[in-house]
Amino acid sequence: MEPKGEKIDHPAGACYNTALPPPLEDEYKEVAWAVPAFDKEANAPRPIEPIWIARPKIGPHQVRFEMLYCGVCHSDPSCGLNEWGGCVYPFVGGHELLGKCIEVGEGVTKVQVGDYVGVGCMVDSCLECEYCKSDEEQYCANGMTMTWNSPKTHGRVLGNPETHTHGGYSGSSVTHEHFVVKIPEGMDIQRAAPILCAGITLWDPIRYHGLVDGPKKVVGVCGLGGLGTMGVKIASALGHKVVAISTSASKESMAKEKGATGFVVTKSEESLKANAGTMDIIFNTISADHDINTYLPLLKTNGIMVMLGGVTKPHTIYQMGLMFQRKTITGSLIGGMKATQEVIDFCHKHNIYPDIKMIKAKDLNEAWKALCEGKGDGVRFVVDIKASLQDESFLPK
Ligand SMILES: NC(=O)c1ccc[n+]([C@@H]2O[C@H](COP(=O)([O-])OP(=O)(O)OC[C@H]3O[C@@H](n4cnc5c(N)ncnc54)[C@H](OP(=O)(O)O)[C@@H]3O)[C@@H](O)[C@H]2O)c1
Ligand SMILES: [Zn+2]
Ligand SMILES: [Zn+2]
Repeated sequence: MEPKGEKIDHPAGACYNTALPPPLEDEYKEVAWAVPAFDKEANAPRPIEPIWIARPKIGPHQVRFEMLYCGVCHSDPSCGLNEWGGCVYPFVGGHELLGKCIEVGEGVTKVQVGDYVGVGCMVDSCLECEYCKSDEEQYCANGMTMTWNSPKTHGRVLGNPETHTHGGYSGSSVTHEHFVVKIPEGMDIQRAAPILCAGITLWDPIRYHGLVDGPKKVVGVCGLGGLGTMGVKIASALGHKVVAISTSASKESMAKEKGATGFVVTKSEESLKANAGTMDIIFNTISADHDINTYLPLLKTNGIMVMLGGVTKPHTIYQMGLMFQRKTITGSLIGGMKATQEVIDFCHKHNIYPDIKMIKAKDLNEAWKALCEGKGDGVRFVVDIKASLQDESFLPK
């Protein structure tokens, strides 16, 4: 379904400027921080600013929560700046939502008013196909509904069916209980939000490739940003030997503090050579176009390269190299709801948290810029929503 509004041609794929209608009767008005539109004259999206959006009132299975913290994933600018094409403006980013439940529908059993809750990248799917039935809703054969920039397709996202989903840079949200995870009592809620995307995106392939219960392996983690550093922490907590792989030599001590015992600088031929053929599996979280052939030689025979970054430029691969060492290149997308609850519980039990930098909504443009320039430094930005709501200078009129 093509969004209603003005279609704007763009090299990455068309994007759309739409006008948000006022709240319907079954909706309420809420503060959000959004990229309001694509500025055709400047040929660029406008910076993030405060706007009003409509959120749905709860139905029998919906959970309403006041937003406390929302992580900033690199996917937010990638979508919001239309690097992937298809952005529908106004775009409200944020898919690492952590809040406190303030209202539940009469049929809700998972959480109660007062509980801390989390929502990740996905807010609906068909729940009937083979993937949904095997707890992998992210691969729904009928297409999952993402937390932001998605049409409302399966009926569990209530409110105006004509508008697209809005992410967590906002005062509150409403989600069907199936797509809500429970944040255990005692968890550090200021730091837990990024587990809902960065954590699960590493946990799910770690689980899928047998690294939760299976034998100990040599695990490479490539790209030491929000995702990569969670990969280092989780894989080392599981007892694997973790080798961090980075473009920046300066990240070695940081990676080792987080649990890596080995370090490869990809800008150094020597470092690449010294580590060739040593890794069983590499989780590749690089967010920009790159030459995968730099990294494949690090794998052992039978090694697996798991592609996780939102990279759109096709790769060129020397196939014979794969054949002669039976290597696999695969991908992985976030994780299902069962696995998302699992990673939250695992991180709570093992006291694993991302290293974060707390910001306010008015800092979002700067945070996006830092991510786009590769200056995240292994620290996840997290928006303090309550503090942002108190900042009169950055609220909608
Ligand atoms: N698969 C999924 O389900 C999923 C889920 C969430 C996010 N993502 C995607 O995963 C990627 C990582 O997200 P993030 O939030 O972790 O981003 P991030 O914090 O910006 O980290 C990305 C890291 O990639 C490395 N990098 C950046 N440019 C590079 C280049 N030109 N060559 C080599 N390495 C480069 C940098 O690490 P070093 O400085 O260490 O080299 C950087 O810290 C993004 O593309 C995001 O959209 C995918
Ligand atoms: Zn994400
Ligand atoms: Zn499905």
